[in-house]
Amino acid sequence: MRHFTHLKDLTPEEIQSILRQARIWKTVPPDHIFLNKILAMVFFNPSLRTRLSFEAAMLRHGGHAIALEVGSGSWNLEIESGAIMNSNKPEHVREAVPVISRLADIVGVRSFSLGLSHEEDDRDSVIHAFKSLSSVPVISMESAREHPCQGLADMLTIQEHFEELRPKVTLAWAPHIKSLPKAVPHSFLLSASAMGYDITVAHPPGYELATSVIKEAQNLSQRSGSRIRFSHNLDSAIQDTQVIYAKAWGPSSPLAAPLDTLTSWMTHERHLKLADPKSIFIHCLPVRRNVEVHDSILDSRQCKVIDEAENRFHIQRALIHFLLSHS
Ligand code: CP
Repeated sequence: MRHFTHLKDLTPEEIQSILRQARIWKTVPPDHIFLNKILAMVFFNPSLRTRLSFEAAMLRHGGHAIALEVGSGSWNLEIESGAIMNSNKPEHVREAVPVISRLADIVGVRSFSLGLSHEEDDRDSVIHAFKSLSSVPVISMESAREHPCQGLADMLTIQEHFEELRPKVTLAWAPHIKSLPKAVPHSFLLSASAMGYDITVAHPPGYELATSVIKEAQNLSQRSGSRIRFSHNLDSAIQDTQVIYAKAWGPSSPLAAPLDTLTSWMTHERHLKLADPKSIFIHCLPVRRNVEVHDSILDSRQCKVIDEAENRFHIQRALIHFLLSHS
């Protein structure tokens, strides 16, 4: 049985094969490949794109998807082993996950970082609990460490625009009103490294990504031939780039400048002028307009965020088919 909760669950060849399948089925959709199959989606956090794209992939191909919202539509779940369950969590994953996996053919889980530490995010406790207790494949719908389906959809979006093997891509830190998790930038860095891209990560000092993720990306880059650079200068990082990926994430150090002093990092139309004239702009969404990204980019013809969101459907259809074929 195969799970997909972290990029490293797939070999580079399998990643390429899923991307290829997604592109083929985007042009010529398959028939009822998920007939009588049930996807159970367990959400500890809200979602628009993830929920809709997984649900649509199942429903359009003869299957069914059921969303369980932990703590509202379904019981709040305890994760800790040995917990004395006298709090507001009436059900333990030790019972919940085996029950879910008796009734569904595949399980998706969304559980964001609690923002405690990179070490805690690396442990990805909720995802690991589900994997260890499930008798069917588990897919991450974003966890503390990674958002791997988003990463693959981002690669599909870039592939559709750039035929060359190694486009230059820039992951640009963006300001926000809140300290957001790093799962999306982690997955972009890992996926782009596996693809062999020329990557620049631009962020203010004190907003570093997790060291374990950077090491994993560097290992992937040795195999793929990608180049990874880090910069504290947004303008120079965007110079001549072909892909601008803006994303907000929280600080890694108590010495980092406060979010409200970093408004100059908001990507703006003028950044597009520094980039390659054929460059595209992407963002995983949701995006706070005129906080993270200026209207002038989001409303430009170079902005591909809607295609990127649609590509979640195409990637996940190919991925679910892969996982069900290997279970
Ligand atoms: N990009 C993404 O995962 O969107 P949602 O949070 O709406 O699912």
